[in-house]
Amino acid sequence: MKNITFDSSIPSQLEFCSLFRITGWYKEYNLTDEQIYGSATNSYFFTSVRDKGELIGCGRIISDGYIHALIVDMIIHPDYQGKGIGKAVLDKLISHCKSNGIIDIQLFCAKGKEGFYLKNSFVPRPVDAPGMQYTNKREGQN
Ligand SMILES: CC(C)(COP(=O)(O)OP(=O)(O)OC[C@H]1O[C@@H](n2cnc3c(N)ncnc32)[C@H](O)[C@@H]1OP(=O)(O)O)[C@@H](O)C(=O)NCCC(=O)NCCS
Repeated sequence: MKNITFDSSIPSQLEFCSLFRITGWYKEYNLTDEQIYGSATNSYFFTSVRDKGELIGCGRIISDGYIHALIVDMIIHPDYQGKGIGKAVLDKLISHCKSNGIIDIQLFCAKGKEGFYLKNSFVPRPVDAPGMQYTNKREGQN
């Protein structure tokens, strides 16, 4: 991948939202472009991937800077998937956490992507200490 470059700059709103739109997560979040872009600019650390200057991938970290880091928005444009670029982005995010001494690196894995993360040193949390997600439901209610 001769012309592929990586850097830690945050792309423009247009670039980020165009890449983000490919995932279909827009429908799920129901947010404006400004709000979606705000999530990117509020990141602790960002990795952009470009081919001849054009944004073709990204990944970012949300963190308190000391204990916890959450890797989110790992996105590689479909034309560039399967070429090792996602792994390179993940490596950069993990390196940044490690070099800053962050203890706990976690992520939410999208359906069907477990294999990617398993190949890259992530393991599911133990069944007796699982990741959990807030819902409006109370136990015993529908
Ligand atoms: C998931 C994603 C980031 C992977 O990026 P990628 O550039 O295609 O992945 P890579 O080419 O770096 O793959 C690295 C390794 O993981 C494997 N891999 C990639 N996607 C996989 C999947 N869905 N299931 C199993 N293995 C996978 C590759 O075969 C490769 O294995 P190898 O090292 O033995 O050759 C990319 O598919 C993507 O952007 N998907 C759409 C957005 C998304 O769902 N993001 C994840 C949110 S949790």
